[in-house]
This record gives sequence, C-alpha cells and structure tokens, in this order.
Amino acid sequence: MRARQKGGIILLSSMVAFQGAARLGHYAATKGYALLLGEALYQELKPLGVAVLTLCLGATATPAYRQAAGLGKELLPVLDPDWTAKKSLRQLGKRAVYIPGLWNQWVHWFLQRFWSRTARRRLIDQQAKIQLKASS
Ligand SMILES: NC(=O)c1ccc[n+]([C@@H]2O[C@H](COP(=O)([O-])OP(=O)(O)OC[C@H]3O[C@@H](n4cnc5c(N)ncnc54)[C@H](OP(=O)(O)O)[C@@H]3O)[C@@H](O)[C@H]2O)c1
Repeated sequence: MRARQKGGIILLSSMVAFQGAARLGHYAATKGYALLLGEALYQELKPLGVAVLTLCLGATATPAYRQAAGLGKELLPVLDPDWTAKKSLRQLGKRAVYIPGLWNQWVHWFLQRFWSRTARRRLIDQQAKIQLKASS
C-alpha cells in the first residue's frame, strides 16, 4: 500500500477501549492496543495515501455478540452489523477514529467529558455483571 500510495486499513476496537473493564480485562486491553496502534498508523500513513480507520464499536448484533451477550439488557442500543459496516466504510480516509451510532457517540462524549475514569470503570463493571447474569 505504501508503494502504491493507495489503500485502506480498518482496525476493530471497542467503546471499552477508553478505560479498564472489569471481567473483560484482557479483551479491553487488546482493544486499547488496537485504538492506539490505529491512531499511530493513521498519522504515519496518511501522508503516503493510505487510509487507516479505527472503529470503536458499541454493542453490535453480530453472531458472536448474539451468542455471548444478554440481548435486551444493554445500556445502549444494539446496532445492526450491516448498517454499522456501511456507515463505517464511509468514514475511511476521513478520520482516525469512528464510533458508529449517534447515541453511542453522544454517550461517549458525555462520559469522557463529565465522568471520571473511576466512575466509567464502575459503570462498565455494573453493566458487565448485568449482562453476565442475563447470559448465564
Ligand atoms: N459485536 C460487538 O458488539 C462488538 C463490540 C465491540 C467490538 N467488537 C469487535 O469487532 C470485531 C468483530 O467482532 P464480531 O462481533 O463481528 O465477531 P464475530 O461475529 O465472531 O465475527 C468475527 C469474524 O472474524 C472472522 N475471523 C475470526 N478469526 C479469523 C481469522 N483467524 N482469520 C480471518 N477471519 C477470522 C470470522 O470469520 P468466520 O465466520 O469465517 O469464522 C468472522 O467473520 C472484534 O474485534 C470485536 O472485538 C465487536
């Protein structure tokens, strides 16, 4: 891609990437890694004509999600995967990081702006407990 000065890469991160997430520690850590890597690649490769987009997904009704989660017990709306993919592809080349879904974007902005990291960790912990209970 560098040689052709053309191309695109999409990294899949998550809304849990922005703080530690109890019971999801390793998962959230890999998503934090993807987010920082994606931001770095965006900056490095943009001048070379390669687009890099990191998606920070909220709940999305993919096969894995349907299997693992307590559908109906989520704090935020569960997005349709096809809709999410279409919306996200349009952002490739336009920005470094994208959170699909207006409600997810608004909640992310609100939590980052007005809630401490500690309060966000607690919120995720509570939500994880509810979902684990619903899926067991
Ligand atoms: N769903 C959510 O709510 C959610 C929220 C936040 C972040 N994410 C992130 O979004 C990403 C996708 O999650 P998902 O929910 O779509 O999971 P999924 O339903 O399990 O889909 C994973 C996809 O990856 C493919 N895959 C798995 N291992 C592969 C490999 N070694 N080589 C090539 N393809 C491989 C699978 O292909 P096959 O079907 O052929 O096995 C499948 O199409 C993950 O990184 C996840 O952390 C998802």
